[in-house]
Amino acid sequence: MKTVVVTRFGGPEVLEVRDVPIPEPGPGQVRIKVHASGLNYADIMQREGLYPNGPKPPFGAGFEVAGTIDAAGSPDCPWPIGTGVMGFCENGYSEFAIAPAARLMPKPEELDFAQAAAIPCQYLTAYHALLTLGGLREGQTVLLQAAAGGLGVFMVQIARNLGATIIGTCSTDEKCDLIQSLGCTHPVNYTKRDFAAEVKQITKGAGCDLVVESVGGNVFDKSLRCLKSRGRLITLGAASRQPASVSAIQLLAANWTVSGFHLSGYANDMEAMGKAIGDLATWLSSGKLTVLAQHRFALEQAADAQQFISDRKSTGKVVLIPGS
Ligand SMILES: NC(=O)c1ccc[n+]([C@@H]2O[C@H](COP(=O)([O-])OP(=O)(O)OC[C@H]3O[C@@H](n4cnc5c(N)ncnc54)[C@H](OP(=O)(O)O)[C@@H]3O)[C@@H](O)[C@H]2O)c1
Repeated sequence: MKTVVVTRFGGPEVLEVRDVPIPEPGPGQVRIKVHASGLNYADIMQREGLYPNGPKPPFGAGFEVAGTIDAAGSPDCPWPIGTGVMGFCENGYSEFAIAPAARLMPKPEELDFAQAAAIPCQYLTAYHALLTLGGLREGQTVLLQAAAGGLGVFMVQIARNLGATIIGTCSTDEKCDLIQSLGCTHPVNYTKRDFAAEVKQITKGAGCDLVVESVGGNVFDKSLRCLKSRGRLITLGAASRQPASVSAIQLLAANWTVSGFHLSGYANDMEAMGKAIGDLATWLSSGKLTVLAQHRFALEQAADAQQFISDRKSTGKVVLIPGS
């Protein structure tokens, strides 16, 4: 089968498509015939060697797929062969991937495989950041950075479904139009307008209840100052590669909370995961969640697909379709 290997840390040129034997699932594992491999910003940070505790080359690229169960490693496997699933795995940019059976979710029938590949990382992160951790409620105001990205378009729609006022930032007018169509009440093209000034004007100087920040550096600093007293900033990424820091005195003086978020910390919270998947089903069946997965590349184009994200050309999910 074909698989994509990160041969050393570096740019997209370090990705290599290789022919390897089809892997066999061990006890508690399944083999998935991959119909769509999800790309995430973390894949790029891992390839660059910038991901905290990330893998060391050579390693298989990607950790998220949607596909069908192809083989089971244990006789008591809960997934019949041929079932459509989505979830986390190793070597996700592959024609076949191995995953723990217990960590998979059934593919919702409303979604095709490319759309389903957007759920494990980006939907669940958006849900748990905004709701499980952020506690966002109707009537509150939230500032979302990178609002047109893979994570961003889920956050916008979840916040809209909750009845929040949404200030979403992105880098082009086309992205602003997109997030507005998904329910962002105040899209801000930050290359033309200062988002902090917009927050001040929209909230009449009060500031936001919640900020979800994934850029780091100056954007983190400015975002923090967009909070109201007793507001919370959730930091979950550093796309700018710039560090961010905050002083304890600053936090206590302003009554602010800064929370780190990583999805792995929620993986074993069955109650929260059940709620996230239950709300996903409700929103999909009632037409209240659109899953954008229009950027589809062949497996052999993995380097182009990652560069497409790095160039900030993507909106919503980017996937690889093996065999296309
Ligand atoms: N902690 C977690 O568990 C977790 C889980 C999922 C994702 N994340 C993080 O959340 C963020 C979004 O992830 P994603 O996969 O959905 O990616 P994405 O949003 O589709 O892509 C990243 C976006 O960040 C924006 N950006 C702003 N400043 C940037 C810079 N200096 N360089 C590059 N991009 C910049 C760009 O949008 P504009 O051009 O519109 O600014 C870009 O499209 C990433 O930082 C990722 O690491 C964290």
